[in-house]
Formats: sequence, C-alpha cells, structure tokens
Amino acid sequence: MDLRLTARARLTIALSLPLIAVLPLHRSVAAQGPAPDAAQTRFVDDLIHRMTLEEKIGQMSQIALNTPDNTSAEAEVRAGHVGSFLFVTDPARIDHLQHVAVEQTRLHIPILFGFDVIHGFRTVYPVPLAMAASWDPEVPAKVQRMAAREASAAGVRWTFAPMVDIARDARWGRMMEGAGEDPFLGSRMAEAQVRGFQGTALSNPDSIVACVKHYAGYGAADGGRDYDSSNISDADLQNIYLPPFHAAERAGAGTFMPAYMDLNGVPAAGNHWLLRDVLKDQWHFQGFVVSDWDAVRNLVTHGFAKDDADAAARSANAGVDMEMTSHIFRDHLAALVKSGTVSQATVDEAVRRILTIKYRLGLFDHPYANPNNAAARMVTPEQRAEARKAGARTAVLLRNEGSVLPLKKSPGTVAVIGPLADSKVDIGGSWSLASHPADNVSVLEGLRRRFPSQPNAVRYSKGVEIERTQPSIFDDQFPEPPLTLHTEAEKHAAFQQAIDLVKSSDVAVLVLGELMSMSGEQAARSTLDLPGRQEELLEAAVATGKPVVLVLLNARPLAINWAAQHVPAILEAWYPGTEGGNAIADLLFGDAVPGGKLPVTFPRSVGQEPLFYARYLTMNPGNVGNMYWDGPSAPLYPFGFGLSYSTFTIADLKLSTPQINAGASLEVTVTVKNTGQYAADQVVQLYTHQRSGSASRPVRELKGFRRITLQPGESKPVTLTLDTHDLGFWSTATRAFAIEPGTFDLWVGDSSTSTANHATFEVTHP
Ligand code: NOJ
Repeated sequence: MDLRLTARARLTIALSLPLIAVLPLHRSVAAQGPAPDAAQTRFVDDLIHRMTLEEKIGQMSQIALNTPDNTSAEAEVRAGHVGSFLFVTDPARIDHLQHVAVEQTRLHIPILFGFDVIHGFRTVYPVPLAMAASWDPEVPAKVQRMAAREASAAGVRWTFAPMVDIARDARWGRMMEGAGEDPFLGSRMAEAQVRGFQGTALSNPDSIVACVKHYAGYGAADGGRDYDSSNISDADLQNIYLPPFHAAERAGAGTFMPAYMDLNGVPAAGNHWLLRDVLKDQWHFQGFVVSDWDAVRNLVTHGFAKDDADAAARSANAGVDMEMTSHIFRDHLAALVKSGTVSQATVDEAVRRILTIKYRLGLFDHPYANPNNAAARMVTPEQRAEARKAGARTAVLLRNEGSVLPLKKSPGTVAVIGPLADSKVDIGGSWSLASHPADNVSVLEGLRRRFPSQPNAVRYSKGVEIERTQPSIFDDQFPEPPLTLHTEAEKHAAFQQAIDLVKSSDVAVLVLGELMSMSGEQAARSTLDLPGRQEELLEAAVATGKPVVLVLLNARPLAINWAAQHVPAILEAWYPGTEGGNAIADLLFGDAVPGGKLPVTFPRSVGQEPLFYARYLTMNPGNVGNMYWDGPSAPLYPFGFGLSYSTFTIADLKLSTPQINAGASLEVTVTVKNTGQYAADQVVQLYTHQRSGSASRPVRELKGFRRITLQPGESKPVTLTLDTHDLGFWSTATRAFAIEPGTFDLWVGDSSTSTANHATFEVTHP
C-alpha cells in the first residue's frame, strides 16, 4: 500500500464515494475572503454526515503533546480523539502521527499541528512589539512569511499568532507579543502578520493558518497582572480593543482564540456576545475558534460555570469550536448533546468550521510535509539575512547626545558590559520555543565579528547578574544559565572589574534590560526599573567619563529616567532574535541607521501606568498641565518617538480639500527632507482630533503613517490618504458607530507630540 496516499484518496477508497473522486486535487482558496466553493462544502458536509458523535468531538479536541512518548498519543489518534496536537515540532514525530491519523483511523482525517510561531520558528525574528516599532507592515509580513516557511517544512500548519491585544500598561508582560498601544498601528500590524503567515492561499504548502488572539481585551488586565480581569467600557472596546481583531478577520485569518480573562465579568471563553454575536454573526467569521490552554475548564475557576459539564456546554454554546488541552469537551459533550443542552447543530457547525480549515490548508490532499528536508530549510542564509535586516529596522534610537553614534569604524578598544551582552538565550525573546539558542548571535559576538583580526579590540565583562525571584513558564525550555556571583565579595569584584574595563577602553557599550523570561506570559512586573543592580552599573560606567552607549534588550517600556538624562546614547533594540548581535553591530557602526519609532509610550515611573498618548482632554484647573503632586504626568518618551543618525524636516502641509463628505477620502501631503549626513528613514505620522461630537474625543489619534528612505539632502513629497471611515467611532451616547460631522484638527509629524504641521478640516454629511 502506498503510504503516501492522500487522506482524501483513502477516504475515497474506504467509502467508495464517487463524489470525492471527481474533486480536483489542487485548488487555491484565497486567504482573503474565502468564498466557500461548492466542492469544499460538499466534501465537508459529506464527511460530517459520515462521522459519529465521538469522531466529531475528537475533531473538536486539541491535545498538548509535551512528553516524548508517542504511545498514548497514537492510541488517542486511532480512537479518533484528536483533531489537533499542539507543541509537537519535531518533523519526524509530526510525520509519524500524521501517518497514524491518515492511515489508521476510520475516516482518515488529517491532524492539524499547531504551535506558537510568534516571532519565528527555528530562526527567531524581533518580538512582535519590535516589529511594530518598525512602523513598516512589510517587516512583520516578511518575517512571518519566513517563519511560516520553516514551520510548515516541519509539518506545523497552524500558529497561535498574531496576538493583536492593545496594551497600554507596561506592567503587563504580554505587551511584547502585540503591537503596543494604538489600534490603528495595531490593525496594520495585525493584517500584515496574517498576510505573512497565510501567504497568497492557505493551500500553498508553505502557508500556515493564523490564530488571532486573545479575543478580546486581555491587554487591559487590571493592574497589568497577567490573566486578571479586564473591565473595559463599551466605547473603548469598540474603538480601541476590537479594531485590530476585526482587521485581522478581514485580512482572512482562519482561526481565533478567546482570551483567558473575564471581560466585564464574563469569561471570554464562555462569552456568547463576543464569539457568536460579534465574531461569527456580525463579522461573518468563517473560520473556527479554539479556546486557550485549559480555558474551558477554567470557566469553573472563574465562578462562571458550576462544573466541568456546565463549562463544556457554555463554552460550546458560546461559540468555542475546539478545546485546547483540558478534555472537557471529550468528557462531557456527548452526554450534553444527548440531553439537548448542546444541540447537534452546534457540534456539526463547529466540526464544519474545523474541517473546512483543514480542507483549505490542503491537508486532505497533502497531509505530509517531508521530514527529511525540514532541517535543511531552517536557519538558511536567506532567513538569517531577513532576521538581521528586521533586527536593524525595528530598533529605536532614544538618545544620541553629541552624536556618539554611530561609532567610528576603528573605535580603538570597546568595553562590552552587562548581564545580557553575551546571552544567546535572552537576545531571542521568550516566545521562541522551537529555536536553538546556539543559533543566536549575542551582542558581544556581533561586535567581535567586526574585528576578526583584532582579538583585543572588543573586551567583555558582565559586571552584574539579574536575579529572578519567580520561576518562568519558559524555564524548562530555556533555563537561564545559573548565577555565578553569590557572595558580596564576588559581586563587588565583578562590578569593579567591569568598571575597570570601561576605564581602560575608548568606548563602552552597556547591554542592559530584562531577562527574556521577564516578558511574555506570566511575566507581569510591579516596577519598570532596570532589574537588579544594572542601573548602578550604568551610573558607575558613565561616571568614568568614557563615552557610554546603552543598548536595551527588553520588550516593554522601562522607566529609564536617569539614563535619559545622563547616558549619551540609548538604543532600544528590544529582543531582536537570531541575528540580533549582528543587527545591533550594524546599527552601532552605522551600516544601518535606526529608523524605528516607539509603538508604546515610555513612562517616567510605574505609577503613571496605564499611560498612552490618545488620552481624553479634561478639565485642567489653572492650566497646571500636571496631574501628580510628585512628578510630571508627561511621559519620558512619547508614542511615535525615535531618532536617527540623520535629521529631517517635514513641511508644506497640504490638504486636498478643507471640507469633505463623510465616507470620502482626503489626501494629505507634506514634503520630507533629509537634512543630515546619512541615508536614513523617517516615519511620517498623521494624527487627528475631532473637536466636538456626541462623545468626547481623544486628544489625538493616529490615522496614517508611512516609513520612507531618503538620501542626504534628498526631499520627497509624501501623500497619505485619510479615509473618513477611520474618523468614525462608536459613541456611548448613541450606542452606534458613525462618522460624525464636525471640525477636525490634523497634524503630520515625526511623533505623537509634533505640532509643526497643523491644519483643520470639516467633515460634513452629504
Ligand atoms: C497560553 C497562551 O495564553 C496562548 O497565547 C498560547 O497560544 C497557548 N498557551 C499555547 O501555548
């Protein structure tokens, strides 16, 4: 028997279905707006018709396979209990289990293998917050395409990404997985990632289906504490938190994942309004919904469902089609269908959605990847080149007093200092579970590679270590190297050695920030300071009088007030991934010029959080401008901020018309000039403010942006199209979405605070 016979062929033989036999073997279903074709519908309906209730519930079940033993997994597959596995990434293992599913089950339905391909698979790219800092949707589109190629080569055809949660509180560690604080930027990044993962058609063998998460409002967790409740007004939900989800859905994302937390008192995994009323009915989402890990069982923990059976019923009825890991569907759905608590139609609809995605992925025709080729398709020179480029495009230059950067090509001796400088683990960022840290280039390595014939040009000393007080969920996969400095004497000696090295060098590069495990899931922080004694080390390095460059590796805003005043150069490099060390070296030596901008506001202290630019104007007695007794209310660095080695002007603001009908678009043009010495990028940003309406409007809102490259002395007109649909909002007063007529302010500049180019226009109703 031909072991490579497709699942569809097996089904044809097993059931002698002429209907199946006449279907073409290859079809391209566009990722965007998948219109169900008749053959697809017939195929899926026919399969559902032949399935037992137990087989249907099997398709609705996803099992985590995080032990090396296949025995019980195979038995589960043969029994028809598995629609999907997560956490299997070994190509040979995937191939084996897929053969079991396709060859040894009654209906030969292939398994969908899912994994968190968040910012890379084996090759790691900058974390999603960094991708957003590129302000260039082609960056996430490109790197997620590359990630999809690697994952699909292993047989993983489903990623639990993009995370599109708007996050306005830097304490929340999962901010690193999203695009930051703004719904407009977040929507563009969400669409781009879906495009990258899913490619031009899901049926392409190198496409993987996206899962948009965590629907919805996870980023507003009370106190920034992961998993804690979110309490969001209807207006903020509609205007801020839902738009990136809707954008990703419109871009054709195949699956959605509800969040863990209670949204305004109702857990997302049992939230009928979110999953059925909005997602499936209002937005006409055609894909399927998978719960988060154990989230169905957790409906009991929430005090929402009375027991596991109730949790299964409420979750399935609310619109969860597949359950991740907790077996509650498997244990209770059959009885619930028999008792009528969950209808047969609900189960059939869930299964139809799941099988349709498997069909669109081409899994019935081509269930197997080639495990023998998989390794050769990982960390190729092409992927490394993309990772390096992305690492450079995502960095944000926060300070450069006296043009310390770029460093001279022959800088004399460089002291590389800090607990993260030689870390191959931390530079990857935390959601990189299929990566091999040995592939990664640390900052020290990247800098040393520039001076191959001068072994002493770049010297390293750690100085301090970062001690974590909590275990991390990533510890099993990526244990942090054990601490080596235990006694006070050892700590003192290491500190002193680093400072002596600074003193005896021409320039110091301090690589500080957070261990990668301090951002991501279960990684909330109650302070935003540089952890441990890093700040002390920084102050001592600056006190030597040597030029100091601070390179930050982290994935949330940090309160770096002292550095912002005293360290001449600060480069926010985020967690840049496999080629991070090379990308940072390119930036420090001017082979690449920083052009990223902050996708999130940097506060002065944790007490300012949540902090974001699109706040509402409010009463301000006496115009004090400051809302705290003990410190400024203004941020340290605003949203949209970022410097360059070059300088730019943005001028000559022109609007195509001062008055526009709601529903039409306005052309906004400025001239951007590179007035400095380097070929470099500028991000032109367009903000608006509506002066009055049925509800108060934020002080500014991003409504357009473009990143452009200019040669020294070059100037270019840049036209941004402002679609008045983007000016509409959901109003608490009218409880409806509308583009309300009125006067708008408009600014075009290089950050959310720039005032240089201002105009007004009127929106009227035709
Ligand atoms: C829990 C996380 O919340 C979710 O984002 C992730 O996709 C799943 N675990 C699977 O790893």
